[in-house]
Amino acid sequence: MLPWERLATADAPDGKPLELRRRGHEYRIRAGGQELMSNEDEPSSRSLSELGCAHITPGPEVRVLVGGLGMGFTLRAALDLVGKGNVEVAELVPAVVEWNEGPLGPLAGHPLRDPRTVLYLGDVRDRIRAASGDFDAILLDVDNGPIALAHAKNDALYGRRGIAQCWDALKPGGVLGVWSLLDDQRYTTRLRQQGFDARAQKVFGSRKDRGREHVIWVAQKSQRSRKPRR
Ligand SMILES: C[S@@+](CC[C@H](N)C(=O)[O-])C[C@H]1O[C@@H](n2cnc3c(N)ncnc32)[C@H](O)[C@@H]1O
Repeated sequence: MLPWERLATADAPDGKPLELRRRGHEYRIRAGGQELMSNEDEPSSRSLSELGCAHITPGPEVRVLVGGLGMGFTLRAALDLVGKGNVEVAELVPAVVEWNEGPLGPLAGHPLRDPRTVLYLGDVRDRIRAASGDFDAILLDVDNGPIALAHAKNDALYGRRGIAQCWDALKPGGVLGVWSLLDDQRYTTRLRQQGFDARAQKVFGSRKDRGREHVIWVAQKSQRSRKPRR
C-alpha cells in the first residue's frame, strides 16, 4: 500500500493545526489530528447541493450560500444547479482556498475559477448574520455536524439563535441544507420549533467506508415569512 504524503500544513484561525495529505488519488484534510474531510466523501458532499437546491428553478436571480469550501464538491454541484445564478462560498481558512487553487483544484473541476462563484474569506456565520432574505438556499458543511464538532465556535450555527439567523437570511420558500456525519433528532426538533419544515435524510456517504450513510437536513422556510421564536 502507498504511504501517506504530507502536502501542506497550516493553522486554522482558532489555532488548530490543519494538514493536507495525499495517498495516490486519495486526499485528506485533517484538523487537530482529526479527519475533517476526504475526497472519498464526494457523494454526500454533492448530495447536500442536490437536496438543498431541488426546489430551485435555475436563473440569473438565484443566490446560494455554501459554507465551507473543503474540496469544492458542494460548490461544484451547486454551480451545476443554479444556471446563470451565483453561488457564494464562505471559507474560514485561507490555506484551504490556496489548496483549492493548487493541488485540490482538479478534484471538483476548479469551481473557484467559475465566474458565478463569489468567494467570502471568513466565517459563514458573519455572512448569514449580514443577510436578510437574500438566499434561495444555505448549504452548511463546515463541520462534522451538530453533535460532532471540529471547530467549537461552529456550535452556535446549530443552536436556536443560529437557526433563526439562517431563517432570516433565506428568501421565503428558501432551504437550509445541513450535512452531518451522524443523525441528531434534537436538531430536527429545533429546526421544526423554529418554523422550518424539516426532515433528516440519509444519503450514500463515502466511497471509502462502504455502506456508511451520512445525514442531510433539508429545512424549508415557509412562503409566508412568519418570524420564528428566538
Ligand atoms: C468538511 S469541509 C467541507 C467539505 C465540502 N462540502 C466539499 O464539498 O468539499 C468543511 C470546511 O468548512 C470550513 N469551515 C469550518 N468552519 C467554518 C466557518 N465557520 N465558516 C466558513 N468555513 C468554515 C473548513 O475550513 C473546511 O474547509
